[in-house]
Amino acid sequence: DTQLDRLQEILARHDGLEGPLLPILHAIQTEFGYIPAACIPVIADHLNIGRAEVHGVVSFYHDFRDAPAGRHVVKICRAEACQAVGAKALAEIALAKLGLEWHGTTPNGAVTIKPVYCLGLCACGPAAMVDDKVVGRVDAAKLNRILTEAGA
Ligand code: FES
Repeated sequence: DTQLDRLQEILARHDGLEGPLLPILHAIQTEFGYIPAACIPVIADHLNIGRAEVHGVVSFYHDFRDAPAGRHVVKICRAEACQAVGAKALAEIALAKLGLEWHGTTPNGAVTIKPVYCLGLCACGPAAMVDDKVVGRVDAAKLNRILTEAGA
């Protein structure tokens, strides 16, 4: 199956649906792991809307990626309890070290960095999550280790 075939199949599945753009984008992201740029004109033509509109929706919602995610996703808690114990500084260190903004991926494809709002680990902040593992009491040294181990 080519990417286009799979896209056509997704579009067909959503025909007749009201407000189909978001469900279509979610389905594409589930299928491919991101929204390939080549899908945008096809979606726009299919729904009879502008490419800029489709593109705008993809870039507005951080859930949608326009490139494949990194091999590891590191999330840093930005909610209150963690902020109170230094999560903000920690986040700044992480972003500076990676040279990324939130939701960015390192050029080598190793790490995507994301904010998260409470991991339920408030008593052991600053908290982070590496792929599906939560980590508490993250300080600069631990953070460095996490990023290095992830291959950043
Ligand atoms: Fe960070 Fe709850 S506020 S884990």
